[in-house]
Amino acid sequence: MIVPGSASQEIAAALADELDEPLSAVEYDRFADGEMLVRIPDADERAIVVASTVSDGAHVELLQLQDAARERAEEVVTVLPYMGYGRQDKTFEAGQPVSARATARAISTGTDRVVTVNPHEKIVCDFFEVPCTAVDAAGRLAEPLSELSEPLFLSPDSGAIELAETVREAYGSGETDYFEKVRHSDTDVEIQPSDADTTGRDVVLVDDIIATGSTMSTAISQLSTPDRVFVTCVHPILASNARSKLATAGVDAVYGTDTVERAVSAVSVAPAIAEEL
Ligand code: R5P
Repeated sequence: MIVPGSASQEIAAALADELDEPLSAVEYDRFADGEMLVRIPDADERAIVVASTVSDGAHVELLQLQDAARERAEEVVTVLPYMGYGRQDKTFEAGQPVSARATARAISTGTDRVVTVNPHEKIVCDFFEVPCTAVDAAGRLAEPLSELSEPLFLSPDSGAIELAETVREAYGSGETDYFEKVRHSDTDVEIQPSDADTTGRDVVLVDDIIATGSTMSTAISQLSTPDRVFVTCVHPILASNARSKLATAGVDAVYGTDTVERAVSAVSVAPAIAEEL
């Protein structure tokens, strides 16, 4: 059975369809002090808990779902379409935690294995204390793109060039390049333009995550007279005013996947996850 987290109901339903497995209707309650309590009404041999940890509350909910699933099933598989805290994969100053490791360890205690999607760095999978598989869903980002003119697939930093190449390959034609990026703070990003000529071309910017939108909006501002600008990412967090920042930067369309459920989640990664289950 598929056990959905409350922030991942669309992707959980899509996964239930792909696998032809029943979808459990999780029940929620809150104590007077605000603490949450979940209940899984069904039992099965295998429980697949599907929950993106998009907030601190979603983390707690996942731990509860895993524990409840353990009461209801022999095998517990945890699907983390988006893993929150995954970008904190190292310490930035002495005395800080490696938050990706801390959360991975906590999640490991309640599951037999983990399947996640495009973690920010591959090392994140090593932080789990149970087997962890990372699904690459970037190719699916080509699906909403049609009839591009002289397409240029650009990543905002060298770290995301493989994603841009994957999307270009899935699209079937075009060039690939990347910007040089220096991050000064959470919202202050400096980007040097790439050498590629963008004049009159359709530009597709590709990244793993859009969080504050600072990276993508700064990248758009460095493009010289493109025709159309499309922004694609696997995880459309789009915190705060990120979507408006992209709009005012001049984007024509934003496409993300359903690892994070937003209006721009045009592509489902459920088929790619189903292949791993
Ligand atoms: C960083 O290395 C990531 O690949 C993304 O570029 C970054 O997380 C995006 O964050 P923001 O939207 O806040 O600039």
